[in-house]
Amino acid sequence: MTASPLRIGIAGLGTVGAGTLKVLRAHADLLALRAGRELKPVAVSARARGKNRGVSLDGLRWCDDPLQLAADPEIDVVAELIGGSDGIARGLCELALRNGKHVVTANKALLAHHGAALARAAETAGRALAFEAAVAGGIPIIKALREGLAANRITQLYGILNGTCNYILTQMRTEGREFSAVLAEAQKLGYAEADPSFDVDGIDAGHKLAILAASAFGGEVDFGAVSLEGIRHVTLADIRFAEELGYRIKLLGIARRTELGIEQRVHPCMVPLAAPIASVDGVYNAVVVEGDSVGTTVFEGRGAGEGPTASAVVADLLDIARGHKIPAFGVPAARLAKLPRAPLAKRKGPCYVRLMVVDRPGIFAAVAASLRDHQISMESVLQRGRAPDAVVPVVMTLHEATEAALQQALAEIARHDGIVEPPRMIRIETFA
Ligand code: NDP
Ligand code: HSE
Repeated sequence: MTASPLRIGIAGLGTVGAGTLKVLRAHADLLALRAGRELKPVAVSARARGKNRGVSLDGLRWCDDPLQLAADPEIDVVAELIGGSDGIARGLCELALRNGKHVVTANKALLAHHGAALARAAETAGRALAFEAAVAGGIPIIKALREGLAANRITQLYGILNGTCNYILTQMRTEGREFSAVLAEAQKLGYAEADPSFDVDGIDAGHKLAILAASAFGGEVDFGAVSLEGIRHVTLADIRFAEELGYRIKLLGIARRTELGIEQRVHPCMVPLAAPIASVDGVYNAVVVEGDSVGTTVFEGRGAGEGPTASAVVADLLDIARGHKIPAFGVPAARLAKLPRAPLAKRKGPCYVRLMVVDRPGIFAAVAASLRDHQISMESVLQRGRAPDAVVPVVMTLHEATEAALQQALAEIARHDGIVEPPRMIRIETFA
């Protein structure tokens, strides 16, 4: 092999960084064959030098300060695998690009907040900004959007974008386990973010959705446009009622072209049991993309953890080694513009509502009156068990209504005597 090696500096040696190093080592020959040159890790940085990371650091330069990687003339590409939307991760990527190095990152928080600026910096420097690992773990969805589906006008995309939440919802359903115990397990398995509220409050999925929307619709990443709702309020009872009604609860990210602009939202959804996405369980993610020429395409794979994420980081490094250069968000960064925002209040669709109600006559008549006053019609009502004067769950499914009407009706229902908790609403999405 005559071509010079691609010299890689890795910042962050946690789940993703150590995993990346392992794959680079385990598949060194295969990668060199595919790239036509060696992919050579030369330096690393993390906080605790003496920590056992399950991979040897022999032969690698250690940098206490990750910014040293960005300044090192012996490094061609910096892999930023630390995390965080600002601070050291942002400083490192900006400096690396300014110093003429390619940047690979798994950091969706950084891209969701500064994606457009970083893409412009990369373009100015004539270097790559690659981030396959930032969205849906091992699924090559960024490559699919920027390359494989590039001939299409994308009409909508949606999917399960957070492995931790999907793992929690799956374990609750199949094992009847408590939310907090399953979250602790997901943390131990290396799936969760440093601050797991990013996972369970829908923020991480929102970061990923904003990146997907920018890549699909060719605009600036606009995290502020994403409506966010997480899974904290989803109970085991909701999961059981959903199954009884023929649905499964999934945290979905949805980005869609509408007449008013691009709708971007993350929230728990009930999807029909027969929908392919309903059976995507555990740490698996899935992304469905609809294009005007191709129709519907479905991508599925592990969304978090060492192996899948390292697979995506190394694929980006391989592209760089091959000299394969694509604009970060599929169009030249100088042409990235703000995507028009479609307000969630205009969304129209059916939904499920759970009320915690004092079991006595007359209360439901008041609920029905509020729905009638907002022109919302009921599809079904379900009460399990009887407990006079005690609190029981009553669930309803409602026919298609606008989000604005629903929110007004639910606010009114919450004020009725005998409704003891705020009504919980889960939108039903059939993607028909
Ligand atoms: P970890 O917490 O496992 O690893 C973070 C690493 O960064 C650690 O090695 C830590 O050092 C190092 N680090 C933290 N602060 C500094 C600093 N100031 N200087 C140098 N090194 C520092 O995180 P993950 O590997 O899970 O995540 C890394 C990135 O990848 C994040 O952006 C995350 O969102 C993203 N990601 C994670 C996935 C996953 O499944 N875990 C999947 C897809 C993306 P030390 O070890 O010494 O403490
Ligand atoms: N915490 C993230 C998840 C990691 O659970 O999906 C992968 O991006």
